[in-house]
Amino acid sequence: MKQWRCTICGYVHTGETPPEVCPVCGADSSFFEEVTGEAGEGGGLTGGEPLIKGGPKQALHKITYGLFIVSSLRGEEINAQCANTVFQITSEPATVAIGINKNNYTHDFIEASGVVGISILDCQGQNLARRFGYRSGRDADKFAGIPYRTGVTGVPLPDGCLGFLEGKVRDKLDCGTHTLYLLDVVNGGLYSDEEPMTYSYFRASK
Ligand SMILES: Cc1cc2nc3c(=O)[nH]c(=O)nc-3n(C[C@H](O)[C@H](O)[C@H](O)COP(=O)(O)O)c2cc1C
Repeated sequence: MKQWRCTICGYVHTGETPPEVCPVCGADSSFFEEVTGEAGEGGGLTGGEPLIKGGPKQALHKITYGLFIVSSLRGEEINAQCANTVFQITSEPATVAIGINKNNYTHDFIEASGVVGISILDCQGQNLARRFGYRSGRDADKFAGIPYRTGVTGVPLPDGCLGFLEGKVRDKLDCGTHTLYLLDVVNGGLYSDEEPMTYSYFRASK
């Protein structure tokens, strides 16, 4: 029997296919990946201690991330999604990269406008992460009832975060299912001194 791990909360499901909805965190089946390579024999390495547990997937789960609301616009419309794949490339000039699934509505908006808002979640940001991360703007107005400011680039920046960046797309790389965008940072600032939320804190606390 196959096993499927929820990439959001770590729940493991046993069955031929992943469940439609994770019973722990509510993520849909697209967030499940098959558990493979749990036991390894050394990963082809030579020298040192021989025992290596797991394979590349298990190692990838140990990469650490923050958690962000990535927003954009298309004409008069606005949208945003949750994302963990946001990271600084250079500080001078300020440049960041983001990884966005091509199926996401936010991807369409970034393609249309070339501008991106990145709102940095603090440790109370679970509700914002759920609101923007578990459904698509194609199906619901995720900003309904959510107070936000409008940045200099026009992007929506939801309240309740510790700070923000605004970027303009300088370049992009087709990564199959995702696009990696390189952004020139054109604005940013802090609203509070709260601690930023990490991806693992979100997974452990929700
Ligand atoms: C904790 C968390 C982290 C996520 N990280 C990413 C990410 O880095 N890149 C991405 O494309 N989607 C990520 N997602 C998934 C999107 O937020 C999700 O598919 C969203 O519904 C897309 O909304 P949209 O269609 O309105 O753009 C994440 C979701 C969660 C809950």
